[in-house]
Amino acid sequence: MTRILIVSGSLRAGSFNTALARTAQQLAPGGVQVDVATLHGIALYDGDTEAREGIPAAVLALKERVLAADGLLLATPEYNNGVPGVLKNGIDWLSRADLKAVFGGRPVGLMGASPSGFGTLLSQAAWLATLKSLGAQVYSGSALMVSRAHTVFDAQGQLTDERTRQLLTDFVADFAAFVQQQRR
Ligand code: FNR
Repeated sequence: MTRILIVSGSLRAGSFNTALARTAQQLAPGGVQVDVATLHGIALYDGDTEAREGIPAAVLALKERVLAADGLLLATPEYNNGVPGVLKNGIDWLSRADLKAVFGGRPVGLMGASPSGFGTLLSQAAWLATLKSLGAQVYSGSALMVSRAHTVFDAQGQLTDERTRQLLTDFVADFAAFVQQQRR
């Protein structure tokens, strides 16, 4: 069994990125288990809090979920042509929890959804420098940028567009194959 954890970078109940992650969970091929995590409950990084209280329980819980997975996918929104602060904050906390164990050599991929025509192109590009600095094995075999997200999801967060469902199916399968290859 290949285990993939998808971390959604949006806290919104109606988030397209969380909906994308949940759909990926449904579309995963046999032998691939996808779990979805959100960043609710993770406070803003504060070095004083860390010095006083150590790594917060919510961060440690997320760390354990990453460690239990073989590969990590970030479902990233794009804010102002860059990475969203919520997700960067989560990754920053994880790097403080245990940089090497969480990210070192870990297969990490990116996907994202946005109502714009570019579908998180710039935030995914911006993530690359961070992932490289963390020592992750960045997946570059294929990309998933869901543009005009409001037209492919319905109000309940169901991915109704068949073409996008196929793209997501292929992307998850390809990323899982990359993860399996890295394990070998
Ligand atoms: C956005 N949005 C946005 N979209 C985009 O494609 N490029 C961008 O640069 C931005 N910038 C931006 C800044 C800020 C502060 C917000 C709040 C939003 C729109 C964004 O893609 C949209 O709100 C998505 O719905 C966010 O993802 P979730 O929450 O649906 O997962």
